[in-house]
Amino acid sequence: MATFALAMPVNLEDKFAFDAAHHGHEIVLRAVSAPELASRAAGAQANIALVASEARYLTDRLIAACDHAGVRLIAVVSTEREQRYASDLGLYDIVEATAGWPAVDALLAHAQRSSGPDSSERGARGQIIAVWGPGGAPGRTSVAIAIAAELAALGHSVALADVDTHGASIAPALGMLDEAPGFAAACRLAGTDTLTAVELARIGQRYESPVGGFWVLTGIGRPSRWPELSAERVGTTIAQCRHWVDYTVLDTSSSLENDEEITSDLFAPRRNAAAVTAVCAADHVIAVGSADPVGMSRFLRAHVDLLDTTTTRNVSVVMNKVRASASGMNPHGQIAQTLSRFGGIEHPILIPHDLPGFDGAVLRGKTLVDAAPRSPARLAVRQLVTSRLAPETDDQPPRRSLFSRMLVRG
Ligand SMILES: Nc1ncnc2c1ncn2[C@@H]1O[C@H](COP(=O)(O)OP(=O)(O)OP(=O)(O)O)[C@@H](O)[C@H]1O
Ligand SMILES: [Mg+2]
Repeated sequence: MATFALAMPVNLEDKFAFDAAHHGHEIVLRAVSAPELASRAAGAQANIALVASEARYLTDRLIAACDHAGVRLIAVVSTEREQRYASDLGLYDIVEATAGWPAVDALLAHAQRSSGPDSSERGARGQIIAVWGPGGAPGRTSVAIAIAAELAALGHSVALADVDTHGASIAPALGMLDEAPGFAAACRLAGTDTLTAVELARIGQRYESPVGGFWVLTGIGRPSRWPELSAERVGTTIAQCRHWVDYTVLDTSSSLENDEEITSDLFAPRRNAAAVTAVCAADHVIAVGSADPVGMSRFLRAHVDLLDTTTTRNVSVVMNKVRASASGMNPHGQIAQTLSRFGGIEHPILIPHDLPGFDGAVLRGKTLVDAAPRSPARLAVRQLVTSRLAPETDDQPPRRSLFSRMLVRG
């Protein structure tokens, strides 16, 4: 038996209250508005709130209050407009009013089934790769997308998650809708202990590619929604991703500052919690810097913070946008020498400046693998993936093209 709170017009409320009782559930609260439900949600001991998808009954604040109280929120929609309203607020748990109680039961049964033993059959074997880098747009998102695409092209199951609480951008880069941010939705389910691999597949959007598609959990288009990505929820979501796919690639924001050092409120939400949690949970961190004097100096300073924050020893340094015009003659030698001398960093991976490749990909909403498969940047990312992230085993002999062999030597 579940306990329900209702907030909806009287005619709907009577119908749902009757059906809930008929199915052996208890209604513990009938609220007349979102603010009333928000203020009483915690004390009412409800597991689930059923609310009409109208501004009077469903608001951002109510979602935050239910998240906080661990109450699962289900929107009841009567029209297409109401459906859009709930989706715009990032809700995935939606039932049609005309479908009545069977739809609510089906949704709850789905969650129960997916939290059963089957969903963990795969075991928590998936690897987590966090792509991090300092401010100044060194190319974190571009590299994260390119890595996900390469892993998928190698035949692995892959999810790409936008964890950037300052400027999410995976959805526009891949030409996807981001009205209902998938990562925030996953975090919401994590907050009510109902996130499973099956739910992740329901929430995720699919990037389709002839050489290997992957799942995408889009980020929060409105940066003001960052409190939804708390450390605990992000941690639980990442942990569930290990059950879901072989590799989860996380695109993080740059700042790893601990907000508690700049606020006295220990319980306040922390904007950098998502990035900090991602680099702490990762099995492998890809640290991306921009290969020019300013970018490298920023990188070297921030890299120290990264090493203080992350727990993994697998940190690969990637210098992106490598070009002689910004680093001088012999850019490879110059960059390697600077990183070694000032940061003790050896064997960086270098990705060439490749404007036609990346611009062409973003313009078409595609990955480098699909839009510019022979571009120099794509070959460098493939080299990074096969050498550091998913080395080919003996039973899968490497199939390198002449192009990539030249790149490895050069
Ligand atoms: N190797 C490259 N060569 C040329 N352009 C590149 C390269 N890598 C990335 N870019 C371009 O640099 C710009 C910034 O890249 P991206 O958005 O990936 O950076 P970011 O670090 O994620 O920035 P943000 O701080 O906005 O999250 C984009 O226009 C992208 O196409
Ligand atoms: Mg980015």
